[in-house]
Amino acid sequence: MNNTEKEKKCWVCDHAISPFMSFGDMPIANNFLNKEDFKDEYFFEMEPAFCENCKSFQLINQPEPEKMFHDNYAFFSGTSVLMDKHFKKFSESVLQYIDQDSFVVEIGSNDGIMLKNFAEREIKHLGIEPSANVAAVAKERGINTLVSFFNKELAEQIVKENGKAKAFIAANVMCHIPYINSIVEGIDTLIDEDGIVIFEDPYLGDVIEKTTYDQIYDEHTFLFSAHSVKNLFGKYNMELIDIEHQETHGGSMRYYLSRKNTRPINKRVEEVFLKENQLGLTNHLTFVQFKDNCERYRNNLLEILKDIKKEGKSIAGYAATSKSTTITNYCGINTDLIDCIYDTTPLKHGKFSPGTHIPIVPHEEFKDNYPDYALLFGYNHSKEIFAKEKEFEEKGGKWIIYVPEIRVLG
Ligand code: SAH
Ligand code: TYD
Ligand code: ZN
Repeated sequence: MNNTEKEKKCWVCDHAISPFMSFGDMPIANNFLNKEDFKDEYFFEMEPAFCENCKSFQLINQPEPEKMFHDNYAFFSGTSVLMDKHFKKFSESVLQYIDQDSFVVEIGSNDGIMLKNFAEREIKHLGIEPSANVAAVAKERGINTLVSFFNKELAEQIVKENGKAKAFIAANVMCHIPYINSIVEGIDTLIDEDGIVIFEDPYLGDVIEKTTYDQIYDEHTFLFSAHSVKNLFGKYNMELIDIEHQETHGGSMRYYLSRKNTRPINKRVEEVFLKENQLGLTNHLTFVQFKDNCERYRNNLLEILKDIKKEGKSIAGYAATSKSTTITNYCGINTDLIDCIYDTTPLKHGKFSPGTHIPIVPHEEFKDNYPDYALLFGYNHSKEIFAKEKEFEEKGGKWIIYVPEIRVLG
């Protein structure tokens, strides 16, 4: 979505904003492509901005949603065993607010990783998922799924057909949506008077603390904080009643909201506000410093990779995450530095990484061709990956990690 005609206004509050840095031209992070498509590859200038007024960290321009979410979407939630456990636990925290007769709506329900926990309990549920191929996996599992983008109009239709919902839930999708006011209006329409909203997304606080700039890519219009969520939902008379930090996706935050003055507010909410003030998440200067940190991280990582290549050693990437698209494109990492990226997603195999065109190879082939070094793009799954790939280290392989700081293991 091109924001230039709007003279760079905040997606949330319409306040004038300007970028604090540019990552340069970026491709679609999940557009793993064939050779013949290289010449037509789409790029956009990725520029983050911070809105002084509503404290939202956001991308100024974003590709059209249909360019990112379609019937050939490459991200399948179910690829991680630990994420499967995570969503089971998430569903349990939702259950505390609902009962057997409640209606639960999830947006960005993907392959059904979360909703299967409600379907198994025979709780009335509906997933809203615009990417038809991942939605098909959920439908096959018996999860009620509507292939569509959620917005206010769709919320009205859902209410007409099903009545109001008791719980609105979302994971790693609220931050994807530039027309976020229409989403919160939709939530307002959808949930009943004592309805609950629970969603989680990668957390701005972690990104700033650890310089995990790879959380910034086309799909992530926003990196939320408690302050920005408060301001966004406050416009629609809803308030934060609880908040919980999560380890997933390298550091996420789960937000619990309800209509104002309907539920008690956990003291954790105030604690997070205070911590965010201390971290500078409400201060523009923090982002000027963040820009310098990104540049330093880029230079340090490139130096390590180039030194290894000078010694004549080989490097492969591990896990073709969306996040890796930002790292490879911003740092200029291509096949001069890494030979290929090993990954578990069949849809990515035989294709090439967005922008930098590094071959994506099935992870089963890793053990047949151990490189000297493996650059871990899936650091958020390090526990799972290290357990699976013990032999790599035993045979002398070394991991290159860049979160929370750049280092070589093994
Ligand atoms: N909730 C899952 C999937 C996150 S990926 C998980 O946490 O693993 C984000 C998903 O949101 C994608 O499947 C994408 O197709 C979907 N999505 C994007 N925009 C959406 C919108 N406006 N409404 C509903 N889903 C959307
Ligand atoms: P994730 O961090 O969820 O991706 P994103 O940055 O897109 O949010 O990681 C998912 C990718 O990591 C997916 O392409 C599969 C890959 N992966 C592996 O290759 N091996 C693994 O053991 C795991 C857990 C993921
Ligand atoms: Zn704003």
